[in-house]
Amino acid sequence: MGNSKQVSAAILISGNGTNLQAFIDAARDGSLDLRIAVVVSNRPDAYGLVRARDAGIATECVRNEDYPERAAFDTALADTLAKYAPGLLILAGFMRILTGRFVRRFEGKILNIHPALLPKFPGLNTHQRVIDAGETLHGSTVHFVTEDLDAGPRILQGRVPVLADDTASRLSARVQAVEHKIYPQAAALFASGRLEFKDGESWLDGARLDEPVQYAGEL
Ligand code: GAR
Repeated sequence: MGNSKQVSAAILISGNGTNLQAFIDAARDGSLDLRIAVVVSNRPDAYGLVRARDAGIATECVRNEDYPERAAFDTALADTLAKYAPGLLILAGFMRILTGRFVRRFEGKILNIHPALLPKFPGLNTHQRVIDAGETLHGSTVHFVTEDLDAGPRILQGRVPVLADDTASRLSARVQAVEHKIYPQAAALFASGRLEFKDGESWLDGARLDEPVQYAGEL
């Protein structure tokens, strides 16, 4: 548990924060050796802020409405984050696109989770699009964030079957259950130094990941 080399993370959210909750729970039960220094939302009504406060974690809000321009928003966000000097940024349902300048500033230190088996289905409304496309397999992907939206090097994927009578909300619930397992695990790999971003790629245990690791339990 807590040691002087412990990685400190900022978790960025926009909504419910069930992934944030998975991080809070994993940090609490010791399966994730990471200090959550702050939770930042771009929406003041995000329920994840309540989860953070209940867990005694500092919260900040950088409101979309206060910074309609992307560059100004990202400057305010970077200034807010600087107070906490995080070694890792975890985007957990953070629904605002970051500028290249911001991403470069934190290069190799930003993780995102996207609710699809990237490179399939980047963008929004993935669950409905997967059903409409007649896919039989869906899931979620943890990846490093680069300037290309939903296209940074992939790290870890969790798969779920698409069932014949699935609705977007039922499918989403199953995908989220997998997310709550894979996202803290990916962060744990980063926090322990096993996972790195180098030369624009993901590296695990010193080897370049040409394909993301497929989740099948503990890593
Ligand atoms: C998650 O399912 C995550 O994959 C998705 O938002 C949800 C947030 O849920 N992220 C994106 O769509 C990013 N483009 P949560 O607030 O309950 O963690």
